[in-house]
Amino acid sequence: MPSTALTHISTLVTNDPSLGPGPLGPIQDAAVVLEDGHIAWVGTTRRTPATDSHYDAAGRAVIPGFVDSHSHLVFAGDRAEEFTARMSGRPYTAGGIRTTVAATRRAGEEELAGRLAAHVAEMLRQGTTTVETKSGYGLTVEDEARAVRLAAAVTEEVTYLGAHVVPEEYRDDPGGYVDLVTGPMLAACAPHARWIDVFCERGAFDADQARAVLTAGLDRGLGARVHAGQLSAGPGVRLAVELGARSADHCTHLTDADVEALADSGGRTVATLLPGCEFATRSPYPDARRLLAAGVVVALATDCNPGSSYTSSLPFCIALAVREMGMTPDEALWAATAGGAAALGRRDIGRIAPGARADLAVLDAPSPAHLAYRPGVPLVAAVWHRGRRAV
Ligand code: NIG
Ligand code: FE
Repeated sequence: MPSTALTHISTLVTNDPSLGPGPLGPIQDAAVVLEDGHIAWVGTTRRTPATDSHYDAAGRAVIPGFVDSHSHLVFAGDRAEEFTARMSGRPYTAGGIRTTVAATRRAGEEELAGRLAAHVAEMLRQGTTTVETKSGYGLTVEDEARAVRLAAAVTEEVTYLGAHVVPEEYRDDPGGYVDLVTGPMLAACAPHARWIDVFCERGAFDADQARAVLTAGLDRGLGARVHAGQLSAGPGVRLAVELGARSADHCTHLTDADVEALADSGGRTVATLLPGCEFATRSPYPDARRLLAAGVVVALATDCNPGSSYTSSLPFCIALAVREMGMTPDEALWAATAGGAAALGRRDIGRIAPGARADLAVLDAPSPAHLAYRPGVPLVAAVWHRGRRAV
């Protein structure tokens, strides 16, 4: 692959503290060289080495491609009516998941694959170069296996979420469903997945059931992640930390003991905040300041799904996190890039430093603060993904 230099970058966010001040490690009037899908060099424009091709960023900012570490993109149908009813006062419940399960089971493979690809492309246009995505709208062995297989065709970050809710047909036998999830369904899904996840919440799975699900996945060599503290404080966060899950997601309702457990994990368990969900369910936002003050590593992700958060935009989530959750623009940008990478246990993405994957976005803005400062404005002007111009 020919080498490319991007030059005249007003601010290059590297997320490498050895390259510039603070966690974002910014370089001013910067340049970056991409070669064979990786970052080969970073520095100032006037020191740029010779390359095969050249892109003049003309005073715009460049950031690492966003790492969206939590989404649910294998689904059919939408729930606009449920959203509309919520905006007239009806509360969000996990029960809506079953609506999407019914639509997804009915859908053909081509339809699901087409919609999945369209959502991934929509994310890429908004600067997301890595996306984690989950099963969880199939809830039979065949439908879950189909979901993880389709997901694996678009990303290496696939999560098996058979334990999303107990499906209708197991209403009277939740234990039987957990046996299915930890037995034949896991066997069918594990070969296509990197992670296992469980929705630990009243109305979904309790602590014992969640522990059984996560332990079965860990025994199969999957990494653990947990939907925890979305609708109420519960056992999910502490279970995530205890089992060494890479991420506890939502973290909207937290006890002091939860915050302490996350902090004590020393960054091993990241708190992934999903403000699109609070936006679309009209709920109070998680308190990012409380987590950051305690020393917890925080990631931001979209949770893109047709029920609780139908946004694919990390810039939108950054704006919400800054306005509603007490984060600074720098903290929110870090959380949506390096934070997402940490939540996926990855060192090769979420930063622009020699050796990292060449994933980056050029912003139509002189500084990355514009992501929060100009909410709703499509600021992503160009994207390189694995060293190739993708947008
Ligand atoms: O992360 N909490 C569980 N799962 C999704 C919601 C899925 C849905 O409502 O369809 C979430 O918010
Ligand atoms: Fe989710």
